[in-house]
Amino acid sequence: MYRTHNCGQLNMKNVGEGVMLSGWVQKSRDLGGMTFVDLRDRYGITQLVFNMETDSGLCEQARKLGREFVVQAEGKVMERSNKNPQIPTGEIEITVEKLEILNKSDTPPFTIEEDTDGGDDLRMKYRYLDLRRKVVRENLQLRSRMAIEIRKYLSDEGFLEVETPVLIKSTPEGARDFVVPSRMNPGEFYALPQSPQTFKQLLMVAGFDKYFQIVKCFRDEDLRADRQPEFTQIDCEMSFVERDDVLAAFEGLTKHLFQTVKGLEIEGEFIKMPYSEAMSRFGNDKPDIRFGMEISGMSELVKGKGFQVFDSVEYVGGICAKSCAGYSRKQLDALTDFVKRPQMGMKGMVYVKYNEDGTLKSSVDKFYDEAALKDWAALFGALPGDLILVLAGDRDLTLKALSELRLEMGNRLELRDPNVFKPLWVVDFPLLEWDENTERFHAMHHPFTSPYEEDMELFKTDPAKVRARAYDLVINGVEIGGGSIRIHNEDLQRQMFDNLGFTKEEAQKQFGFLMSAFRYGAPPHGGIAFGFDRLVALFAGIESIRDVIAFPKNNAGRDVMIETPSTISEEQLDELSLNVKVVK
Ligand code: AMO
Repeated sequence: MYRTHNCGQLNMKNVGEGVMLSGWVQKSRDLGGMTFVDLRDRYGITQLVFNMETDSGLCEQARKLGREFVVQAEGKVMERSNKNPQIPTGEIEITVEKLEILNKSDTPPFTIEEDTDGGDDLRMKYRYLDLRRKVVRENLQLRSRMAIEIRKYLSDEGFLEVETPVLIKSTPEGARDFVVPSRMNPGEFYALPQSPQTFKQLLMVAGFDKYFQIVKCFRDEDLRADRQPEFTQIDCEMSFVERDDVLAAFEGLTKHLFQTVKGLEIEGEFIKMPYSEAMSRFGNDKPDIRFGMEISGMSELVKGKGFQVFDSVEYVGGICAKSCAGYSRKQLDALTDFVKRPQMGMKGMVYVKYNEDGTLKSSVDKFYDEAALKDWAALFGALPGDLILVLAGDRDLTLKALSELRLEMGNRLELRDPNVFKPLWVVDFPLLEWDENTERFHAMHHPFTSPYEEDMELFKTDPAKVRARAYDLVINGVEIGGGSIRIHNEDLQRQMFDNLGFTKEEAQKQFGFLMSAFRYGAPPHGGIAFGFDRLVALFAGIESIRDVIAFPKNNAGRDVMIETPSTISEEQLDELSLNVKVVK
Protein backbone atom coordinates (compact mmCIF):
# COMPACT_ATOMS: atom_id res chain seq x y z
CA MET A 1 0.00 0.00 0.00
CA TYR A 2 1.32 3.40 -0.96
CA ARG A 3 -1.21 5.78 0.50
CA THR A 4 -4.30 6.11 2.64
CA HIS A 5 -5.16 9.60 1.36
CA ASN A 6 -4.07 11.94 -1.42
CA CYS A 7 -2.19 15.20 -0.93
CA GLY A 8 -5.25 17.43 -1.30
CA GLN A 9 -7.57 15.61 1.03
CA LEU A 10 -6.66 16.08 4.66
CA ASN A 11 -8.03 18.84 6.87
CA MET A 12 -8.91 19.66 10.50
CA LYS A 13 -11.40 16.77 10.59
CA ASN A 14 -8.49 14.33 10.26
CA VAL A 15 -6.40 15.72 13.13
CA GLY A 16 -5.02 12.88 15.22
CA GLU A 17 -5.33 10.25 12.49
CA GLY A 18 -2.44 8.12 11.34
CA VAL A 19 -2.04 8.48 7.55
CA MET A 20 0.20 7.50 4.70
CA LEU A 21 0.84 9.78 1.69
CA SER A 22 2.83 9.40 -1.51
CA GLY A 23 3.86 12.12 -3.89
CA TRP A 24 6.56 14.43 -5.22
CA VAL A 25 8.73 16.79 -3.21
CA GLN A 26 7.68 20.27 -4.29
CA LYS A 27 10.19 21.92 -1.99
CA SER A 28 11.80 21.48 1.40
CA ARG A 29 12.77 24.10 3.96
CA ASP A 30 15.29 23.46 6.64
CA LEU A 31 14.76 25.65 9.71
CA GLY A 32 17.43 24.24 11.97
CA GLY A 33 15.48 22.08 14.37
CA MET A 34 12.65 21.46 11.95
CA THR A 35 12.46 20.47 8.30
CA PHE A 36 9.31 21.14 6.28
CA VAL A 37 8.58 19.34 3.02
CA ASP A 38 5.74 20.21 0.66
CA LEU A 39 4.48 16.95 -0.79
CA ARG A 40 2.56 17.28 -4.06
CA ASP A 41 0.32 15.08 -6.16
CA ARG A 42 -2.45 15.74 -8.66
CA TYR A 43 -4.85 16.64 -5.87
CA GLY A 44 -2.88 19.18 -3.90
CA ILE A 45 -0.02 19.85 -1.52
CA THR A 46 0.37 18.66 2.06
CA GLN A 47 3.05 19.86 4.46
CA LEU A 48 5.25 17.21 6.07
CA VAL A 49 7.16 18.07 9.26
CA PHE A 50 10.32 16.44 10.55
CA ASN A 51 11.55 17.30 14.03
CA MET A 52 15.26 17.09 14.87
CA GLU A 53 14.53 16.61 18.56
CA THR A 54 12.12 13.70 18.22
CA ASP A 55 13.91 11.84 15.41
CA SER A 56 17.21 13.26 14.23
CA GLY A 57 17.85 10.36 11.81
CA LEU A 58 14.55 10.91 10.03
CA CYS A 59 15.17 14.66 9.93
CA GLU A 60 18.59 14.11 8.36
CA GLN A 61 16.92 11.89 5.76
CA ALA A 62 14.36 14.61 4.99
CA ARG A 63 17.08 17.25 4.60
CA LYS A 64 18.58 15.22 1.79
CA LEU A 65 15.37 15.09 -0.26
CA GLY A 66 15.76 16.84 -3.60
CA ARG A 67 13.08 18.51 -5.63
CA GLU A 68 10.77 16.06 -7.43
CA PHE A 69 11.91 13.03 -5.42
CA VAL A 70 9.03 10.57 -5.14
CA VAL A 71 8.47 9.69 -1.49
CA GLN A 72 6.11 7.89 0.81
CA ALA A 73 5.51 9.33 4.27
CA GLU A 74 3.69 7.86 7.22
CA GLY A 75 2.71 9.94 10.22
CA LYS A 76 0.05 11.75 12.20
CA VAL A 77 -2.19 14.63 11.11
CA MET A 78 -1.61 17.65 13.38
CA GLU A 79 -3.06 21.13 13.53
CA ARG A 80 -0.61 23.69 12.16
CA SER A 81 0.43 26.61 14.26
CA ASN A 82 1.21 28.68 11.19
CA LYS A 83 -1.88 28.16 9.02
CA ASN A 84 -1.97 28.73 5.24
CA PRO A 85 -5.48 29.80 4.17
CA GLN A 86 -4.47 29.68 0.46
CA ILE A 87 -4.70 25.87 0.18
CA PRO A 88 -7.37 23.37 1.36
CA THR A 89 -4.84 21.42 3.46
CA GLY A 90 -3.37 24.61 4.91
CA GLU A 91 -4.66 24.09 8.45
CA ILE A 92 -2.87 20.79 9.02
CA GLU A 93 0.51 19.13 8.60
CA ILE A 94 1.81 15.58 8.95
CA THR A 95 4.33 14.83 11.66
CA VAL A 96 6.29 12.17 9.87
CA GLU A 97 7.27 8.96 11.61
CA LYS A 98 8.45 6.97 8.62
CA LEU A 99 9.84 8.11 5.28
CA GLU A 100 10.69 6.11 2.21
CA ILE A 101 12.24 7.36 -0.99
CA LEU A 102 10.37 5.60 -3.80
CA ASN A 103 12.48 7.22 -6.51
CA LYS A 104 15.09 9.92 -6.82
CA SER A 105 14.94 12.75 -9.35
CA ASP A 106 17.52 14.79 -11.19
CA THR A 107 17.16 18.49 -10.54
CA PRO A 108 14.37 19.51 -12.92
CA PRO A 109 15.35 21.95 -15.69
CA PHE A 110 12.76 24.48 -14.52
CA THR A 111 10.75 25.05 -11.38
CA ILE A 112 7.47 23.19 -11.11
CA GLU A 113 5.60 26.27 -9.91
CA GLU A 114 2.72 28.34 -11.23
CA ASP A 115 5.10 30.94 -12.59
CA THR A 116 7.91 28.80 -13.85
CA ASP A 117 11.31 30.03 -14.97
CA GLY A 118 11.20 27.63 -17.93
CA GLY A 119 10.90 29.07 -21.43
CA ASP A 120 8.50 27.57 -23.95
CA ASP A 121 11.00 25.28 -25.66
CA LEU A 122 12.30 23.88 -22.40
CA ARG A 123 8.82 23.27 -21.06
CA MET A 124 7.84 21.45 -24.24
CA LYS A 125 10.99 19.31 -24.20
CA TYR A 126 10.12 18.21 -20.68
CA ARG A 127 6.37 18.39 -21.13
CA TYR A 128 5.82 15.61 -18.56
CA LEU A 129 7.33 17.97 -15.97
CA ASP A 130 5.39 20.95 -17.28
CA LEU A 131 2.23 18.89 -16.88
CA ARG A 132 2.99 18.60 -13.16
CA ARG A 133 2.35 22.34 -12.86
CA LYS A 134 -1.06 23.17 -11.44
CA VAL A 135 -2.02 25.67 -14.17
CA VAL A 136 -1.32 23.22 -16.96
CA ARG A 137 -2.92 20.30 -15.16
CA GLU A 138 -6.05 22.33 -14.47
CA ASN A 139 -6.44 23.06 -18.19
CA LEU A 140 -6.42 19.34 -18.89
CA GLN A 141 -8.83 18.65 -16.07
CA LEU A 142 -11.15 21.24 -17.61
CA ARG A 143 -10.76 19.53 -20.97
CA SER A 144 -11.68 16.17 -19.48
CA ARG A 145 -14.75 17.61 -17.75
CA MET A 146 -15.91 19.26 -20.92
CA ALA A 147 -15.49 16.06 -22.94
CA ILE A 148 -17.60 14.20 -20.38
CA GLU A 149 -20.34 16.86 -20.43
CA ILE A 150 -20.36 16.82 -24.24
CA ARG A 151 -20.78 13.05 -24.32
CA LYS A 152 -23.52 13.22 -21.70
CA TYR A 153 -25.44 15.96 -23.45
CA LEU A 154 -25.22 14.56 -26.95
CA SER A 155 -26.04 10.99 -25.96
CA ASP A 156 -29.03 12.26 -23.95
CA GLU A 157 -30.13 14.01 -27.15
CA GLY A 158 -29.97 10.72 -29.03
CA PHE A 159 -26.62 11.12 -30.80
CA LEU A 160 -24.61 7.95 -31.41
CA GLU A 161 -20.84 8.09 -31.00
CA VAL A 162 -19.28 6.33 -33.98
CA GLU A 163 -15.57 6.08 -34.72
CA THR A 164 -14.45 6.72 -38.28
CA PRO A 165 -11.15 5.60 -39.82
CA VAL A 166 -7.90 7.53 -39.59
CA LEU A 167 -6.24 6.04 -42.66
CA ILE A 168 -8.40 7.48 -45.40
CA LYS A 169 -8.36 9.39 -48.64
CA SER A 170 -8.06 13.15 -48.95
CA THR A 171 -10.94 15.23 -47.52
CA PRO A 172 -11.17 18.71 -48.94
CA GLU A 173 -11.17 21.03 -45.91
CA GLY A 174 -8.85 23.52 -47.51
CA ALA A 175 -5.52 22.47 -45.98
CA ARG A 176 -2.82 20.10 -47.19
CA ASP A 177 -3.07 16.45 -46.21
CA PHE A 178 -0.68 14.50 -44.07
CA VAL A 179 -0.04 11.29 -45.97
CA VAL A 180 0.98 7.79 -44.92
CA PRO A 181 2.66 5.40 -47.36
CA SER A 182 1.14 1.95 -47.69
CA ARG A 183 3.63 -0.93 -47.46
CA MET A 184 1.16 -3.39 -48.89
CA ASN A 185 0.30 -1.15 -51.82
CA PRO A 186 3.64 0.18 -53.09
CA GLY A 187 3.52 3.72 -54.40
CA GLU A 188 0.13 4.37 -52.82
CA PHE A 189 -0.72 6.54 -49.86
CA TYR A 190 -3.41 7.05 -47.30
CA ALA A 191 -4.29 10.57 -46.20
CA LEU A 192 -5.06 11.38 -42.58
CA PRO A 193 -8.51 12.94 -42.22
CA GLN A 194 -8.70 16.72 -42.18
CA SER A 195 -12.11 15.91 -40.72
CA PRO A 196 -14.47 12.90 -40.87
CA GLN A 197 -16.69 14.88 -43.28
CA THR A 198 -17.40 12.24 -45.92
CA PHE A 199 -17.75 9.44 -43.38
CA LYS A 200 -20.31 11.28 -41.32
CA GLN A 201 -22.34 11.90 -44.45
CA LEU A 202 -22.11 8.20 -45.29
CA LEU A 203 -23.38 7.44 -41.77
CA MET A 204 -26.44 9.53 -42.61
CA VAL A 205 -26.93 7.53 -45.81
CA ALA A 206 -26.64 4.48 -43.54
CA GLY A 207 -29.58 5.79 -41.53
CA PHE A 208 -27.71 6.60 -38.30
CA ASP A 209 -29.71 9.83 -38.07
CA LYS A 210 -27.69 11.55 -35.32
CA TYR A 211 -23.93 10.99 -35.12
CA PHE A 212 -21.18 12.53 -33.04
CA GLN A 213 -17.54 11.87 -32.35
CA ILE A 214 -14.81 13.61 -30.38
CA VAL A 215 -12.18 13.05 -32.98
CA LYS A 216 -8.63 13.88 -33.97
CA CYS A 217 -8.23 15.75 -37.27
CA PHE A 218 -5.00 16.43 -39.14
CA ARG A 219 -4.18 19.44 -41.29
CA ASP A 220 -0.87 20.42 -42.75
CA GLU A 221 -1.23 24.19 -42.59
CA ASP A 222 0.67 27.16 -41.23
CA LEU A 223 0.33 27.20 -37.47
CA ARG A 224 -0.99 29.99 -35.27
CA ALA A 225 -2.01 30.29 -31.64
CA ASP A 226 -5.36 28.72 -32.47
CA ARG A 227 -4.12 26.08 -34.92
CA GLN A 228 -2.37 22.78 -34.40
CA PRO A 229 -1.52 20.20 -37.08
CA GLU A 230 -3.48 17.63 -35.11
CA PHE A 231 -6.44 18.94 -33.22
CA THR A 232 -9.74 17.66 -31.91
CA GLN A 233 -13.23 18.25 -33.20
CA ILE A 234 -16.62 17.63 -31.68
CA ASP A 235 -17.97 16.37 -34.96
CA CYS A 236 -21.70 15.92 -35.58
CA GLU A 237 -24.20 15.16 -38.31
CA MET A 238 -28.00 14.95 -38.33
CA SER A 239 -30.60 13.71 -40.83
CA PHE A 240 -33.94 15.25 -41.79
CA VAL A 241 -32.93 18.64 -40.46
CA GLU A 242 -33.02 22.23 -41.62
CA ARG A 243 -30.36 24.74 -40.69
CA ASP A 244 -32.20 25.96 -37.60
CA ASP A 245 -32.56 22.42 -36.22
CA VAL A 246 -28.78 22.03 -36.28
CA LEU A 247 -28.25 25.48 -34.77
CA ALA A 248 -30.77 24.79 -32.00
CA ALA A 249 -29.11 21.47 -31.12
CA PHE A 250 -25.64 22.99 -30.86
CA GLU A 251 -26.81 26.15 -29.18
CA GLY A 252 -28.20 23.73 -26.60
CA LEU A 253 -24.84 21.99 -26.24
CA THR A 254 -23.02 25.32 -25.92
CA LYS A 255 -25.41 26.56 -23.25
CA HIS A 256 -25.18 23.25 -21.41
CA LEU A 257 -21.39 23.53 -21.29
CA PHE A 258 -21.45 27.11 -20.05
CA GLN A 259 -23.96 26.14 -17.40
CA THR A 260 -22.40 22.91 -16.14
CA VAL A 261 -18.72 23.80 -16.50
CA LYS A 262 -18.67 27.55 -15.86
CA GLY A 263 -21.92 28.03 -13.96
CA LEU A 264 -23.01 30.66 -16.51
CA GLU A 265 -26.50 31.03 -17.96
CA ILE A 266 -26.49 32.38 -21.51
CA GLU A 267 -29.93 33.93 -21.89
CA GLY A 268 -31.97 33.99 -25.09
CA GLU A 269 -31.27 32.70 -28.57
CA PHE A 270 -27.89 33.38 -30.10
CA ILE A 271 -27.94 36.17 -32.68
CA LYS A 272 -27.85 34.99 -36.30
CA MET A 273 -25.85 37.44 -38.38
CA PRO A 274 -25.44 37.09 -42.15
CA TYR A 275 -21.85 36.99 -43.32
CA SER A 276 -22.28 40.18 -45.36
CA GLU A 277 -23.47 42.06 -42.27
CA ALA A 278 -20.61 40.72 -40.13
CA MET A 279 -18.18 41.96 -42.77
CA SER A 280 -19.66 45.42 -43.14
CA ARG A 281 -20.22 46.04 -39.41
CA PHE A 282 -17.13 44.33 -38.02
CA GLY A 283 -14.85 43.74 -41.02
CA ASN A 284 -14.61 40.14 -39.89
CA ASP A 285 -16.49 36.87 -40.29
CA LYS A 286 -15.81 36.11 -36.63
CA PRO A 287 -16.83 39.33 -34.93
CA ASP A 288 -16.14 39.95 -31.26
CA ILE A 289 -19.49 41.40 -30.19
CA ARG A 290 -18.54 41.95 -26.55
CA PHE A 291 -18.14 45.60 -27.47
CA GLY A 292 -19.51 48.06 -30.03
CA MET A 293 -17.12 50.39 -31.86
CA GLU A 294 -18.66 49.16 -35.12
CA ILE A 295 -17.30 50.08 -38.52
CA SER A 296 -19.15 52.68 -40.61
CA GLY A 297 -18.61 53.09 -44.33
CA MET A 298 -17.91 56.77 -45.12
CA SER A 299 -17.29 56.81 -48.87
CA GLU A 300 -20.38 58.88 -49.72
CA LEU A 301 -19.66 61.40 -47.02
CA VAL A 302 -16.00 62.03 -47.79
CA LYS A 303 -15.53 61.62 -51.52
CA GLY A 304 -15.44 64.54 -53.95
CA LYS A 305 -13.99 67.07 -51.52
CA GLY A 306 -10.59 67.29 -53.18
CA PHE A 307 -8.80 64.89 -50.87
CA GLN A 308 -6.97 62.66 -53.33
CA VAL A 309 -6.38 59.80 -50.89
CA PHE A 310 -10.10 59.30 -50.29
CA ASP A 311 -11.13 60.09 -53.87
CA SER A 312 -8.83 57.51 -55.40
CA VAL A 313 -9.87 54.48 -53.35
CA GLU A 314 -12.68 51.95 -53.44
CA TYR A 315 -13.67 52.27 -49.81
CA VAL A 316 -13.37 54.67 -46.86
CA GLY A 317 -14.52 53.62 -43.42
CA GLY A 318 -13.86 54.23 -39.78
CA ILE A 319 -14.52 53.44 -36.15
CA CYS A 320 -15.23 55.67 -33.18
CA ALA A 321 -13.37 55.07 -29.93
CA LYS A 322 -15.23 56.45 -26.93
CA SER A 323 -13.41 58.92 -24.69
CA CYS A 324 -10.13 58.78 -26.61
CA ALA A 325 -9.99 62.37 -27.94
CA GLY A 326 -7.21 62.97 -25.44
CA TYR A 327 -4.90 60.58 -27.31
CA SER A 328 -1.41 62.07 -27.65
CA ARG A 329 0.55 62.42 -30.87
CA LYS A 330 2.61 59.45 -29.74
CA GLN A 331 -0.43 57.25 -29.18
CA LEU A 332 -1.86 58.19 -32.58
CA ASP A 333 1.50 57.52 -34.26
CA ALA A 334 1.56 54.08 -32.63
CA LEU A 335 -1.89 53.33 -34.09
CA THR A 336 -0.77 54.59 -37.50
CA ASP A 337 2.26 52.30 -37.33
CA PHE A 338 -0.07 49.47 -36.34
CA VAL A 339 -2.19 49.82 -39.50
CA LYS A 340 0.89 50.37 -41.68
CA ARG A 341 2.43 47.00 -40.79
CA PRO A 342 2.92 44.93 -43.95
CA GLN A 343 0.23 42.39 -42.97
CA MET A 344 -2.33 45.22 -42.74
CA GLY A 345 -1.30 46.98 -45.92
CA MET A 346 -2.68 50.43 -45.07
CA LYS A 347 -0.84 53.53 -46.23
CA GLY A 348 -1.89 55.70 -43.32
CA MET A 349 -4.64 56.65 -40.90
CA VAL A 350 -6.81 59.75 -40.63
CA TYR A 351 -8.19 60.79 -37.26
CA VAL A 352 -10.74 63.24 -35.93
CA LYS A 353 -10.68 64.36 -32.32
CA TYR A 354 -14.05 65.47 -31.02
CA ASN A 355 -12.69 67.63 -28.22
CA GLU A 356 -14.46 67.97 -24.87
CA ASP A 357 -15.16 71.65 -25.70
CA GLY A 358 -17.15 70.56 -28.77
CA THR A 359 -14.53 71.60 -31.35
CA LEU A 360 -13.38 69.10 -33.95
CA LYS A 361 -9.78 68.66 -34.98
CA SER A 362 -8.65 66.31 -37.71
CA SER A 363 -5.49 65.31 -39.52
CA VAL A 364 -7.18 66.40 -42.78
CA ASP A 365 -8.38 69.89 -41.77
CA LYS A 366 -7.24 71.22 -45.12
CA PHE A 367 -9.98 69.32 -46.95
CA TYR A 368 -12.77 69.04 -44.43
CA ASP A 369 -14.05 71.99 -42.42
CA GLU A 370 -15.68 71.76 -39.02
CA ALA A 371 -19.18 71.41 -40.55
CA ALA A 372 -18.03 68.42 -42.62
CA LEU A 373 -16.40 66.85 -39.58
CA LYS A 374 -19.67 67.35 -37.66
CA ASP A 375 -21.31 65.13 -40.30
CA TRP A 376 -18.64 62.51 -39.74
CA ALA A 377 -19.28 62.66 -36.01
CA ALA A 378 -23.01 62.33 -36.59
CA LEU A 379 -22.47 59.21 -38.70
CA PHE A 380 -20.73 57.51 -35.78
CA GLY A 381 -22.98 59.00 -33.11
CA ALA A 382 -19.75 60.46 -31.68
CA LEU A 383 -19.87 62.68 -28.60
CA PRO A 384 -17.40 65.24 -27.28
CA GLY A 385 -14.41 63.32 -25.97
CA ASP A 386 -14.50 60.68 -28.73
CA LEU A 387 -11.90 59.83 -31.35
CA ILE A 388 -12.73 58.79 -34.93
CA LEU A 389 -10.17 56.70 -36.80
CA VAL A 390 -10.49 56.43 -40.58
CA LEU A 391 -8.85 54.09 -43.10
CA ALA A 392 -9.10 54.03 -46.88
CA GLY A 393 -8.22 51.60 -49.66
CA ASP A 394 -9.42 48.47 -51.37
CA ARG A 395 -12.72 47.46 -49.69
CA ASP A 396 -11.82 44.01 -48.41
CA LEU A 397 -8.36 45.01 -47.26
CA THR A 398 -9.59 48.15 -45.51
CA LEU A 399 -12.40 46.34 -43.73
CA LYS A 400 -9.88 43.77 -42.54
CA ALA A 401 -7.57 46.50 -41.29
CA LEU A 402 -10.46 48.31 -39.58
CA SER A 403 -11.36 45.04 -37.89
CA GLU A 404 -7.81 44.67 -36.57
CA LEU A 405 -7.76 48.31 -35.47
CA ARG A 406 -11.09 47.82 -33.69
CA LEU A 407 -9.79 44.76 -31.84
CA GLU A 408 -6.58 46.61 -30.95
CA MET A 409 -8.60 49.52 -29.54
CA GLY A 410 -10.83 46.99 -27.76
CA ASN A 411 -7.71 45.58 -26.09
CA ARG A 412 -6.31 49.00 -25.24
CA LEU A 413 -9.60 50.08 -23.70
CA GLU A 414 -10.04 46.73 -21.93
CA LEU A 415 -13.38 46.11 -23.60
CA ARG A 416 -12.65 42.43 -24.25
CA ASP A 417 -13.47 41.04 -20.83
CA PRO A 418 -12.42 37.36 -20.69
CA ASN A 419 -15.21 36.66 -18.20
CA VAL A 420 -17.95 37.80 -20.57
CA PHE A 421 -19.08 35.39 -23.31
CA LYS A 422 -21.02 36.63 -26.35
CA PRO A 423 -21.81 33.85 -28.82
CA LEU A 424 -23.38 34.37 -32.24
CA TRP A 425 -24.08 32.40 -35.40
CA VAL A 426 -22.62 33.82 -38.58
CA VAL A 427 -24.81 32.49 -41.40
CA ASP A 428 -25.20 32.68 -45.19
CA PHE A 429 -21.53 32.51 -46.07
CA PRO A 430 -20.64 32.81 -49.74
CA LEU A 431 -20.50 29.34 -51.27
CA LEU A 432 -17.35 30.12 -53.23
CA GLU A 433 -14.17 32.04 -52.66
CA TRP A 434 -11.85 33.33 -55.36
CA ASP A 435 -8.31 32.08 -55.03
CA GLU A 436 -5.76 34.49 -56.49
CA ASN A 437 -3.05 31.85 -56.69
CA THR A 438 -4.93 29.23 -58.67
CA GLU A 439 -7.19 31.83 -60.30
CA ARG A 440 -10.33 29.83 -59.72
CA PHE A 441 -13.15 29.48 -57.26
CA HIS A 442 -12.81 27.21 -54.25
CA ALA A 443 -15.53 26.06 -51.89
CA MET A 444 -15.36 28.46 -48.94
CA HIS A 445 -16.47 25.74 -46.55
CA HIS A 446 -16.19 22.45 -48.46
CA PRO A 447 -17.69 21.13 -51.69
CA PHE A 448 -20.49 19.21 -49.93
CA THR A 449 -22.15 22.40 -48.71
CA SER A 450 -25.56 23.07 -50.17
CA PRO A 451 -26.16 26.38 -51.97
CA TYR A 452 -29.41 28.31 -51.50
CA GLU A 453 -31.70 27.07 -54.23
CA GLU A 454 -32.82 30.61 -55.08
CA ASP A 455 -29.17 31.57 -55.74
CA MET A 456 -28.50 28.74 -58.18
CA GLU A 457 -29.02 30.99 -61.22
CA LEU A 458 -26.16 33.19 -60.02
CA PHE A 459 -23.74 30.33 -60.69
CA LYS A 460 -23.78 31.38 -64.33
CA THR A 461 -23.69 35.15 -63.86
CA ASP A 462 -22.00 36.00 -60.56
CA PRO A 463 -20.73 32.87 -58.74
CA ALA A 464 -19.20 34.91 -55.90
CA LYS A 465 -22.73 35.96 -54.89
CA VAL A 466 -24.11 32.44 -54.42
CA ARG A 467 -24.87 31.96 -50.73
CA ALA A 468 -24.21 28.71 -48.89
CA ARG A 469 -26.41 27.11 -46.29
CA ALA A 470 -23.37 27.29 -44.03
CA TYR A 471 -22.91 28.63 -40.53
CA ASP A 472 -20.19 29.26 -37.97
CA LEU A 473 -20.44 29.53 -34.21
CA VAL A 474 -18.36 32.49 -33.05
CA ILE A 475 -17.68 33.34 -29.41
CA ASN A 476 -15.68 36.42 -28.41
CA GLY A 477 -14.03 36.70 -31.82
CA VAL A 478 -13.05 33.03 -31.98
CA GLU A 479 -14.43 30.69 -34.65
CA ILE A 480 -15.50 27.83 -32.44
CA GLY A 481 -17.28 25.74 -35.04
CA GLY A 482 -18.59 25.54 -38.55
CA GLY A 483 -20.97 23.43 -40.54
CA SER A 484 -23.64 23.39 -43.20
CA ILE A 485 -26.68 21.75 -44.70
CA ARG A 486 -25.27 19.35 -47.26
CA ILE A 487 -25.98 18.50 -50.83
CA HIS A 488 -27.70 15.09 -50.78
CA ASN A 489 -28.42 14.77 -54.45
CA GLU A 490 -25.97 13.20 -56.86
CA ASP A 491 -26.68 15.56 -59.75
CA LEU A 492 -26.23 18.68 -57.68
CA GLN A 493 -23.06 17.28 -56.14
CA ARG A 494 -21.66 16.56 -59.60
CA GLN A 495 -22.62 20.06 -60.74
CA MET A 496 -20.87 21.48 -57.70
CA PHE A 497 -17.64 19.62 -58.46
CA ASP A 498 -17.94 20.86 -62.03
CA ASN A 499 -18.37 24.47 -60.83
CA LEU A 500 -15.29 24.07 -58.66
CA GLY A 501 -13.24 23.10 -61.68
CA PHE A 502 -12.94 19.36 -60.99
CA THR A 503 -12.96 17.30 -64.18
CA LYS A 504 -15.48 14.43 -64.22
CA GLU A 505 -12.62 11.96 -63.78
CA GLU A 506 -11.09 13.85 -60.84
CA ALA A 507 -14.47 14.09 -59.10
CA GLN A 508 -15.10 10.41 -59.70
CA LYS A 509 -11.65 9.38 -58.49
CA GLN A 510 -11.78 11.47 -55.33
CA PHE A 511 -15.44 11.35 -54.37
CA GLY A 512 -17.04 8.63 -56.51
CA PHE A 513 -17.86 6.67 -53.34
CA LEU A 514 -19.93 9.55 -51.97
CA MET A 515 -21.78 10.19 -55.20
CA SER A 516 -22.61 6.53 -55.59
CA ALA A 517 -23.88 6.48 -51.98
CA PHE A 518 -26.17 9.37 -52.91
CA ARG A 519 -27.79 7.03 -55.42
CA TYR A 520 -29.03 4.74 -52.64
CA GLY A 521 -31.45 6.94 -50.78
CA ALA A 522 -29.46 9.72 -49.12
CA PRO A 523 -31.63 11.62 -46.63
CA PRO A 524 -31.48 15.42 -46.39
CA HIS A 525 -28.79 16.08 -43.79
CA GLY A 526 -26.52 18.65 -42.23
CA GLY A 527 -24.05 19.00 -39.42
CA ILE A 528 -21.34 20.92 -37.69
CA ALA A 529 -17.94 20.51 -36.06
CA PHE A 530 -16.69 22.47 -33.07
CA GLY A 531 -12.98 22.93 -32.53
CA PHE A 532 -12.71 21.27 -29.13
CA ASP A 533 -9.25 22.71 -28.34
CA ARG A 534 -10.50 26.23 -29.09
CA LEU A 535 -13.58 25.73 -26.95
CA VAL A 536 -11.51 24.53 -23.99
CA ALA A 537 -9.05 27.42 -24.41
CA LEU A 538 -11.96 29.87 -24.45
CA PHE A 539 -13.36 28.35 -21.26
CA ALA A 540 -9.90 28.44 -19.68
CA GLY A 541 -9.53 32.11 -20.64
CA ILE A 542 -6.35 31.55 -22.66
CA GLU A 543 -5.44 32.25 -26.26
CA SER A 544 -3.12 29.46 -27.26
CA ILE A 545 -4.69 26.04 -27.76
CA ARG A 546 -1.29 24.50 -27.04
CA ASP A 547 -1.98 25.07 -23.35
CA VAL A 548 -5.02 22.80 -23.43
CA ILE A 549 -3.35 19.94 -25.31
CA ALA A 550 -1.29 17.43 -23.31
CA PHE A 551 1.44 16.98 -25.90
CA PRO A 552 1.23 19.76 -28.50
CA LYS A 553 3.48 20.55 -31.45
CA ASN A 554 5.52 23.76 -31.67
CA ASN A 555 5.10 26.40 -34.36
CA ALA A 556 7.29 24.44 -36.73
CA GLY A 557 5.00 21.43 -36.30
CA ARG A 558 7.60 19.61 -34.21
CA ASP A 559 7.24 17.64 -31.02
CA VAL A 560 10.51 18.60 -29.35
CA MET A 561 10.05 16.04 -26.59
CA ILE A 562 9.94 12.94 -28.74
CA GLU A 563 11.91 14.71 -31.48
CA THR A 564 9.59 14.21 -34.37
CA PRO A 565 9.22 14.47 -37.36
CA SER A 566 12.37 12.44 -37.86
CA THR A 567 14.02 10.39 -40.56
CA ILE A 568 13.32 6.68 -40.94
CA SER A 569 15.76 3.90 -41.65
CA GLU A 570 16.78 2.66 -45.11
CA GLU A 571 15.05 -0.64 -44.29
CA GLN A 572 11.79 1.10 -43.57
CA LEU A 573 12.08 3.12 -46.77
CA ASP A 574 12.75 -0.04 -48.74
CA GLU A 575 9.77 -1.78 -47.17
CA LEU A 576 7.61 1.15 -48.17
CA SER A 577 9.11 1.22 -51.67
CA LEU A 578 10.13 4.84 -51.11
CA ASN A 579 13.07 6.94 -52.22
CA VAL A 580 13.57 10.22 -50.41
CA LYS A 581 14.58 13.26 -52.39
CA VAL A 582 15.05 16.23 -50.06
CA VAL A 583 14.39 19.44 -51.98
CA LYS A 584 15.58 22.50 -50.06
P1 AMO B 1 -13.98 23.42 -40.26
O1 AMO B 1 -12.88 23.25 -41.21
O2 AMO B 1 -14.64 24.77 -40.16
O3 AMO B 1 -15.18 22.43 -40.59
O4 AMO B 1 -13.49 22.97 -38.82
C1 AMO B 1 -14.35 23.00 -37.71
C2 AMO B 1 -13.68 23.67 -36.53
O5 AMO B 1 -12.45 23.03 -36.20
C3 AMO B 1 -11.56 23.98 -35.65
N1 AMO B 1 -10.28 23.92 -36.39
C4 AMO B 1 -9.07 23.86 -35.81
N2 AMO B 1 -8.70 23.87 -34.52
C5 AMO B 1 -7.38 23.78 -34.25
N3 AMO B 1 -6.41 23.67 -35.17
C6 AMO B 1 -6.73 23.65 -36.49
N4 AMO B 1 -5.77 23.52 -37.40
C7 AMO B 1 -8.11 23.76 -36.86
N5 AMO B 1 -8.78 23.78 -38.02
C8 AMO B 1 -10.08 23.87 -37.73
C9 AMO B 1 -12.21 25.32 -35.74
C10 AMO B 1 -13.27 25.10 -36.80
O6 AMO B 1 -14.36 25.97 -36.64
N6 AMO B 1 -16.04 19.07 -41.71
C11 AMO B 1 -16.32 20.46 -41.40
C12 AMO B 1 -17.44 20.61 -40.43
C13 AMO B 1 -18.80 20.40 -41.01
O7 AMO B 1 -19.05 20.89 -42.12
O8 AMO B 1 -19.61 19.76 -40.33
C14 AMO B 1 -15.05 21.08 -40.81
O9 AMO B 1 -14.08 20.42 -40.50
O10 AMO B 1 -12.79 25.64 -34.50
